[in-house]
Amino acid sequence: TKKLAIMGAMQEEVEPLLANFENINVVEYANNKYYEVNYNGLDIVIAYSKIGKVFASLTASTMIEKFGCDTLLFSGVAGAINPELKIGDLIIADKLCQHDLDITAFGHPHGYVPEGKVFVETSKELREIAKKVASNNEIKVIEGTIATGDQFVHSTDRKDFIETTFKADALEMEGASVAVVCDALDVPFFILRAISDSADMDAGFDFDEFLKSSAKVSADYIMQIVKEI
Ligand code: ADE
Repeated sequence: TKKLAIMGAMQEEVEPLLANFENINVVEYANNKYYEVNYNGLDIVIAYSKIGKVFASLTASTMIEKFGCDTLLFSGVAGAINPELKIGDLIIADKLCQHDLDITAFGHPHGYVPEGKVFVETSKELREIAKKVASNNEIKVIEGTIATGDQFVHSTDRKDFIETTFKADALEMEGASVAVVCDALDVPFFILRAISDSADMDAGFDFDEFLKSSAKVSADYIMQIVKEI
């Protein structure tokens, strides 16, 4: 890795990352701020995209195409689907899909458009590094499928649909769009999330309550991973 991108969607997800650095150079571009740092001789660009697939795609593309990042890590929070995932637990995505992409009217499966794919896989090498860091530090983490859509899911109906259709373990609003960008541009990437809620009736309340603490759990683990990259 010559230049590392670390992104989140919200300020709360990126703040606990930025807290680790001094001498931060801020670059304003495309209605956003990009934070350049050097850490152990490694150039890193940090940014939060704003919520949702479009903003996340723009930020991921910018970090790669304008800033020249050749590896991308995402840190943030997610809603749990898999009942083994409790608030504050970590999930590494092995693959991601877009649960709200729907041209089933034309006989295609959910999440599929022609010349695309339902699931985009993350870098196996980065997952291996992350799992080694987890086992060396007794960090509990599961590996699974993350479903992404431009919706804050707060109903068991929608959650059940995403579980049955994609066998997803967690859901959020950016990961799969970042995955599509990185896959197309041939940039190895890693998507990490800590659970903030269970995407059910209480999700809005839980999210507000646990966003900051879970974002920090994710950011702290990302920083340990960065040391091994
Ligand atoms: N990120 C964290 N919780 C979420 C939820 N319930 N829906 C969508 N994205 C989320």
